[in-house]
Amino acid sequence: MSTLNNSLRNTMWVEKYRPQDLEQIVNQNEIVDGISNLLKNPEAIPHLLFAGPPGVGKTTAALCIARRLLGEDWRKDTLELNASDERGIKMVRERVKSFAAVIKLVTDSSNEHKMYRLIILDEADEMTPEAQTALRRIIEDSSKTTRFLIICNYLSQIIDPLQSRCVIFRFTRLTEKDVVDHMKIICKNEETSFEEKALAKIYEITSGDLRLSINILQASAATKHVSISTVHSAMGMSGKARVSEIIRLAISGKFNESRIKLMELTTVFGISHGDFLKYAYQEIYSLKLPNPNKIAVLMAEYDFRLATGAHPDLQLTAFLAQLALQASDQQ
Ligand SMILES: Nc1ncnc2c1ncn2[C@@H]1O[C@H](COP(=O)(O)OP(=O)(O)OP(=O)(O)O)[C@@H](O)[C@H]1O
Ligand SMILES: [Mg+2]
Repeated sequence: MSTLNNSLRNTMWVEKYRPQDLEQIVNQNEIVDGISNLLKNPEAIPHLLFAGPPGVGKTTAALCIARRLLGEDWRKDTLELNASDERGIKMVRERVKSFAAVIKLVTDSSNEHKMYRLIILDEADEMTPEAQTALRRIIEDSSKTTRFLIICNYLSQIIDPLQSRCVIFRFTRLTEKDVVDHMKIICKNEETSFEEKALAKIYEITSGDLRLSINILQASAATKHVSISTVHSAMGMSGKARVSEIIRLAISGKFNESRIKLMELTTVFGISHGDFLKYAYQEIYSLKLPNPNKIAVLMAEYDFRLATGAHPDLQLTAFLAQLALQASDQQ
């Protein structure tokens, strides 16, 4: 898995330029100051709740905190869960519970910071109120050893008893100057030239979502020059349209082409595997195939495999192979 992460880090600019330390986070100054203050006293760190729009640094800040609190080995003592990816909330509950239940023994006295396990629960606003209530109990039962870092887009979707157990940080959209300056740094590093207007255009499209801005920048920079016209053609195809193209290729028996485009979609354009299946499902029904129900059964199986932690690239490639096979059966 780590080789996959490393190659992702090299190919996707959003990962390559993800800040490793709180001080590198663009804007969000008040939040960075607030968190830095809390980190001065790691033993007394409270549970944290981050809320705010997509692509402004919430997950990034959470990972920086994990690194600060737990040191270089932070991954070992950090459980990252995505409440919306893991289909069954029950599964989230089981995993949080079993992870939180392991009492962290402070064996390494040279590093007094290492006293907690950290659970980062992303997209918590996708959890039902019942699941959040269960989570609240888990937080209470495990708070001697475990700190929770809960992330959401909409604070209003988080139940009050959960909010009241956390210190809340509200992340805001980034300004045009912040986003454009950041894109300029990336361009310089990637030896890519740009038109000022093109960067302004990217900001206009993304309205302060830095992740989306960087993804569009990368997609527009294939020729090492970002212009209004390369931004337009990169934007010409939405994620959904790209998924449709992949499904059509597979169904017409062009498995290899569809496989390559799938890799491009997930690594360069950053579409999640869950989103891929969601769009694929819509596409399959809109294509009015003779056997959509058979394909739906197939999709349900792959959906389940992804939810249970199977290797996503491998599973989706196998799914495309199955689609191509079905196509040849039809002939
Ligand atoms: N404030 C920021 N400073 C520097 N880079 C940022 C910032 N916000 C976002 N990025 C870039 O965008 C990528 C995605 O950011 P991040 O995962 O932190 O977003 P998020 O706020 O968690 O979004 P979501 O709500 O969609 O999960 C990062 O890898 C980084 O490259
Ligand atoms: Mg996030």
